[in-house]
Amino acid sequence: MKILVVGGGGREHAIIRKLKENPEVTQIVALPGNAGIGQDAECVSIKATDIDGIVNYVKENPVDFAVVAPDDPLALGCVDRLHALGVPCFGPDAKAARIEASKVFAKDLMKKYHIPTARYEVFGDAEKALEYVKACPLPTVVKADGLALGKGVVIAMTREEALEAVKAAMIDGAFGKSGSRIVVEEFLEGPEVSVLAFTDGHVVKPMVSSMDHKRAGDNDTGLNTGGMGTIAPNPCYTPEVAKRCMEEIFLPTIAAMNAEGCPFKGCLYFGLMVTKDGPKVIEYNCRFGDPETQVVLPLLKSDLLTIMQAVENETLADTPVEFSDGAACCVMLASGGYPGKYEKGKVIDMGRANEMAQVYHSGTGRNDKGELVTAGGRVLGVSCTADTLENAIQKAYTAAAEIQWDGMMLRHDIGRRALSILNKGE
Ligand code: AMP
Ligand code: GLY
Repeated sequence: MKILVVGGGGREHAIIRKLKENPEVTQIVALPGNAGIGQDAECVSIKATDIDGIVNYVKENPVDFAVVAPDDPLALGCVDRLHALGVPCFGPDAKAARIEASKVFAKDLMKKYHIPTARYEVFGDAEKALEYVKACPLPTVVKADGLALGKGVVIAMTREEALEAVKAAMIDGAFGKSGSRIVVEEFLEGPEVSVLAFTDGHVVKPMVSSMDHKRAGDNDTGLNTGGMGTIAPNPCYTPEVAKRCMEEIFLPTIAAMNAEGCPFKGCLYFGLMVTKDGPKVIEYNCRFGDPETQVVLPLLKSDLLTIMQAVENETLADTPVEFSDGAACCVMLASGGYPGKYEKGKVIDMGRANEMAQVYHSGTGRNDKGELVTAGGRVLGVSCTADTLENAIQKAYTAAAEIQWDGMMLRHDIGRRALSILNKGE
């Protein structure tokens, strides 16, 4: 079978490695992929957002199955277009992808179907939004409506920060069109849990839970990033919390999307906060998380392609989705300066890391000499599984210590909080 994977980061690398475990998979093409993905698949330099380019490629180079992994092509209707060519796909159509692409759509859906989330107001008018944040309770959370590369959310601790966030989004146009409408919402407190779930629009099968580490610096300091590391499972996701999530969030969300005429098929990512009033939705994503995928898929015991086909064929109810009992940890290695300005093109010394861990490439390329070089903010994800979380963390950091380049940056405390919760029952 020839499989097409749209995307070119660590998440796609993890998906491709897992797909390769199926002996029927004879060829994988990644659009555009990256240098590391190039060792596991054929890369063709068509951007993930170039939907016409992708469609033309598939017309000339037929594929048996397509996986559309990133949010942008999903929101742009990549799956709709591939379906129109008769290509079976994994991923939601554009209508269903609105659950991530529009925060207003997601919030209104949750309100209408009584799915627990932060209270909120929507504004299309800057004056009214400014008026509102002059008096709203603090801290408050200001979110651009559309996709903003994970940068469209501001947690405003002070009145000035709240006013500034509204101005940046609605008057200065910091997020382009994505910020012309905003959501201002209640600040929630509690541990965060990421749950990725397979759904075919009929049943929902959650994957092992995980925990992201979004801030750039140790002890959750510094700027928000795309994610500096992950662990799975997340100790805050107890069986009781899981049961409530299934009853109060997962199943109602699937039913709500059906009722709205946009059934969701693919991987639905629930960004959850376990508050003292129970689990609430912080955000939905219409895709696998990055770097959550880099800890979740290594723990998947069932065959990924079989599950993806079952999602497309709406036979997920009959398809096992099983995870091993162990734990996983992924440590992200980033370019110095990330998430601010950083340099690219630094030569990477991998040491023996590839023998010690799954090293997923997020942003790598090759220089003129063919050497592996940095090509993004987040560069490599070093992922290990083990019988316990403690061992997984130790293995991941031991492997990460093998890797070097000029200015390499990493967090030193991935999984530390999770371990202390496990050890102390915090
Ligand atoms: P998002 O881009 O929606 O994932 O938001 C980024 C981060 O902001 C989340 O992972 C949370 O840590 C935080 N966040 C978003 N919404 C809220 C909220 N209502 N209350 C507290 N923290 C939030
Ligand atoms: N790790 C968060 C995300 O994928 O959106």
